[in-house]
Amino acid sequence: MKFSLAGAGPQGQAMIARDLNCLSPSYTREYALVVDRAQGSELWDVDGRHYIDFMAGVAVLNVGHRHPAVVDAVKEQVDKFWHICLSDFYYPQAVELAEKLQAIAPMDDTLVYLANSGTEAVESAIKLAMYQTGRSQFIGFLGAFHGRTLGSLSFTASKAVQRENYLVGVKVQHIPYPNAYRPVLNVRDGQDYGDAVIEYLENQVFHHLLKPTDVAGVLVEPIQGEGGYIVPAPNFFPRLRKICDQYGILLIADEIQSGIGRTGKWWAIEHEGVEPDIVCFAKGVGSGMPIGGIIARKELMVWGPGAHGSTFGGNPVAAASALATLETIEKEGIVAQAAATGQFIMDALAEMQAHHPSIGEVRGRGLMIGIEFVKDKQTKEKAVELRNAVIQTAFETGLLLIPCGVNAIRMTPPLNIPHDLVMAGLKIFEAALTQAEQEWLAQ
Ligand SMILES: Cc1ncc(COP(=O)(O)O)c(C=O)c1O
Repeated sequence: MKFSLAGAGPQGQAMIARDLNCLSPSYTREYALVVDRAQGSELWDVDGRHYIDFMAGVAVLNVGHRHPAVVDAVKEQVDKFWHICLSDFYYPQAVELAEKLQAIAPMDDTLVYLANSGTEAVESAIKLAMYQTGRSQFIGFLGAFHGRTLGSLSFTASKAVQRENYLVGVKVQHIPYPNAYRPVLNVRDGQDYGDAVIEYLENQVFHHLLKPTDVAGVLVEPIQGEGGYIVPAPNFFPRLRKICDQYGILLIADEIQSGIGRTGKWWAIEHEGVEPDIVCFAKGVGSGMPIGGIIARKELMVWGPGAHGSTFGGNPVAAASALATLETIEKEGIVAQAAATGQFIMDALAEMQAHHPSIGEVRGRGLMIGIEFVKDKQTKEKAVELRNAVIQTAFETGLLLIPCGVNAIRMTPPLNIPHDLVMAGLKIFEAALTQAEQEWLAQ
């Protein structure tokens, strides 16, 4: 997106001017939103403008902004103690959170490591995979986003600007993600694109580049997030699991964006009918308090004291927030709500797709929904400016959306967004789309 002050009021514009003088220019910034306060699925800017939130702080606020149960848990913990260092001491909040994560994990007999963020979760998974297998090569995916520290950045292949000028350290062979809408590999008539990607891995990568027995792990998003909200072709994960079993390669699911109920199951990989060896989590788990980590099969967590750790990882306030978030999701049936609201939005978008020339594909699971914009549904030429115009107009008319991929928009509201806000948000979205299409046709 291009930098613009459009949509901000006078207070917002003044704050953005100050921001530009003191904060790093590396932040991308989608549009001129300067937040004052938020509640549930609604948000107000510093000029008092009201917005419906269809992006949840980049798929983080799964129970909405400031859910009362989470606010209470954070306040209670702040009144007890804030920090002691989990690497050196013990406290109940970390234990209770880890037990809860074990209970909802997509595999049995696990242990949990707690960190502060998504990228640290990924670093932990990379290190554990190297430690456990004694191998140092990995498989990653074109279009993937796994974070920005040098280990995770070695896997990130979403936008070249994220890697340019940095010397990444981990040996990663990137292969195409099984995106059937835009296949980059040849597909035989009737062939599942997941099979085509697996055959590429087996017949090309393992034949020309790497011995499979040198590979420590495959790091993969069960729905590719920043890359465009791409749902993998059906045969991909079952066959990938088989390959991992065959060669002793660890299957590492990056559920940082797709986990914690977002797709209508606790974990997106549960839709694929396979179990991972390691799960990376962050974002939605802490309701905005910084926390992340990994869940791994117990027999894989072979590292001993000192092999990995951190000062703040599993911080007691963040852990209390995370435990309250997970309990709230369970108590209020929010995973099922995500599935039902997601289906409702997908149906509404499919209807829009039928009479809007620019919607090429609507895809997703639960409330992890991607809409891809094209100039022509046959050629699938990407409509990047139109996508940007929809987001900007939506913002200026009261709906928060963010992009993904080159030409897609993601819809990731809080999982418990009320129906009236869903309806109001979809109305703003369609009006923004109609306006953008009219402007584009008039060009
Ligand atoms: C799938 C995935 N992995 C890793 C990350 C990195 O998380 P963080 O920004 O907390 O480091 C992200 C962030 O968008 C993500 O979507």
